[in-house]
Amino acid sequence: MSKSKLKDTIIYNRTTHPERTNATFERIEEVFFNVLGDNIKKEMKALQTQLGISSPRALLTEKQAERIVSFVDNQGFDPNVIDALIDQLHASEISTAEAIDIHKQYKIPVSHLEQDIVPVKGHGCWIMDTKGNWYLDMDSNYSATNLGMSNEEIAQGLYNQAKTLISMKEDRVQIARTRFLKEISSMMPEGLHYFYWQNSGGEAVDKAIKIAKAYTKSKDVISFKQGFHGRTHGAVAVTWEEDYKKPFSLDNEDWVHFANFNDIKSVKRLVKKTGAKIIILELVQGEEAGNRAADPAFVNDLWQFAKENNIVIIDDEVQAGFGRTALKKGDWFACMSYDVVPDIMTIGKSFGGGYPVTAVVTTKQISDAMKPGYDGSTFGGNPMAMTAALIANRQMKEKDITGNVVARAQELREGLENLKNKYPIIEEITGRGLMIAFSVGSKENVEKLVEQLHKQGVKTSLSTGKYIRFLPPTIISKGEVTEFLKRLDASLQHV
Ligand SMILES: Cc1ncc(COP(=O)(O)O)c(C=O)c1O
Repeated sequence: MSKSKLKDTIIYNRTTHPERTNATFERIEEVFFNVLGDNIKKEMKALQTQLGISSPRALLTEKQAERIVSFVDNQGFDPNVIDALIDQLHASEISTAEAIDIHKQYKIPVSHLEQDIVPVKGHGCWIMDTKGNWYLDMDSNYSATNLGMSNEEIAQGLYNQAKTLISMKEDRVQIARTRFLKEISSMMPEGLHYFYWQNSGGEAVDKAIKIAKAYTKSKDVISFKQGFHGRTHGAVAVTWEEDYKKPFSLDNEDWVHFANFNDIKSVKRLVKKTGAKIIILELVQGEEAGNRAADPAFVNDLWQFAKENNIVIIDDEVQAGFGRTALKKGDWFACMSYDVVPDIMTIGKSFGGGYPVTAVVTTKQISDAMKPGYDGSTFGGNPMAMTAALIANRQMKEKDITGNVVARAQELREGLENLKNKYPIIEEITGRGLMIAFSVGSKENVEKLVEQLHKQGVKTSLSTGKYIRFLPPTIISKGEVTEFLKRLDASLQHV
């Protein structure tokens, strides 16, 4: 056994792992139970007494760590057992129960606390939890970690950047952003080459609305029913679901009007009534609509109508962008697969390979409506974010993400169609590319299926109503799609 390796997972090394703390006895005990089962219960009790531990969540001392190492040494464990102990302790020095308790104690409950698994590390499309169980990730952290839950190159780039220049305000010239700008242009829709960087999708939507208002010198915005645009004040105001807005008195904004999705007549009616000059939409409605793609005819009509009436279209690609909804190789954004170019686009999620970076992208003409002093951001487009974005975007091109999405989406679709024939509970399959969903009749059935999939080692995405949604990392392989379909089949047998 490598004694120093085990000790390093118990007593943190300030030089190599400044992000850690010392381990607790509660975590040591949990890891032993995870790896060896209850057989070791008596020995652990004796060890705790021997170490004089009365608070299992207190940080262990150097001396206690040495005694734990000797204890492991004396047990004569198989080397695989010791490796598993080290692996799990390395992933977390804090117990699952403590992590959950601390979250419950300190979190403002703006959302449900997900505690079914506590993820500690990821590799490609797989996530490991504190118990050492691996799950197939069909969510990508709300579609953000499309290159996988960890990334060596981004880690190295961020390390280098943090060592040299960790932050720089949005308004100052810097080298990391220059590097990024020299590489990104080829991915953007034609003419959209002016950027305003932000840190979250909601912020990007907020700023896109401000830019559109400044350009059109108007305040009314048409949004769509079942659309979702984020949780900031402006973004949630243009989001459909009332529950997200009512508590904040944002459900009755006089500048926001909701049209029916895929219904050009309803858009025309609202424009006539309000004189609105701004439209915001998702080309593939996600969270609130169960991954519903716009009809190509509707998109054509909408663009034509907007052109004729000098209406600015904001295409929210925060979730659908960076290849997720590609229909052919090179469709980096959903608008490309519809063969249209929006006036303003919001991008995020995949942008930094999981590192937070988002942006508003627009044309020169529209960007000229913004004047110095109209807006500002301390962290927008900071060197760390730009470094992550540069590396992530380079990798997306090198890994041919759009090509992969096209191939995997076809396999996934075919597999789901087969399962639909086998299980009548599957009603409708929706989505585009690797933004896919199906309905199972009721919210209760979705909950049952999510639970069964969890048992089968699959993490689903946030589901809405009767739709269960899947947003796998866009790097997912053919084998992993097959594995997913196999586990889904096994899960459906119990619903
Ligand atoms: C289409 C769309 N826009 C905006 C957002 C908000 O992004 P964020 O959660 O990064 O603020 C989301 C998040 O899911 C989204 O799907």
